[in-house]
Amino acid sequence: MVIYLSGDLGAGKTTLVRGLLHALGYGGRVKSPTYTLIEPYDLPGLNLRHFDLYRFRDAEEWEAAGFRDEFDENNICLVEWPEQAAELLPLADLEIVFNILPDGRTLDLYAHTAAGKQCLTALHN
Ligand SMILES: Nc1ncnc2c1ncn2[C@@H]1O[C@H](COP(=O)(O)OP(=O)(O)OP(=O)(O)O)[C@@H](O)[C@H]1O
Ligand SMILES: [Mg+2]
Repeated sequence: MVIYLSGDLGAGKTTLVRGLLHALGYGGRVKSPTYTLIEPYDLPGLNLRHFDLYRFRDAEEWEAAGFRDEFDENNICLVEWPEQAAELLPLADLEIVFNILPDGRTLDLYAHTAAGKQCLTALHN
């Protein structure tokens, strides 16, 4: 599963991942992978990978850092700043677009695959 998190600096992308992890029962610290680019979370029955590609520059690093291998059927990959590695990333199942309002945020959710559509359907029910 690949989920793009799109929106300006400070839009709330990391905050959403933190909330998701805590909702899944993760009790540890959730720090922004600003410098490491990836933070892995292996939870019971679920492997989550949190990417922040804001500082990603070098396409050669993609392979060398093993990022390509993270996008497999076992991982849920949440990706901040996907546009920084647009030509390297697999297409998103789900895309979440954050909009900053004076008083909070709104999110637009787009499903691009059958799996993504299933998620949106589940959210509606
Ligand atoms: N839904 C929200 N309503 C109000 N404030 C929020 C909301 N979500 C996040 N914030 C606040 O906005 C700030 C930045 O949030 P966060 O770090 O999650 O942004 P980000 O989108 O990950 O930014 P970056 O692109 O720099 O990684 C934090 O102080 C957080 O508390
Ligand atoms: Mg962030």
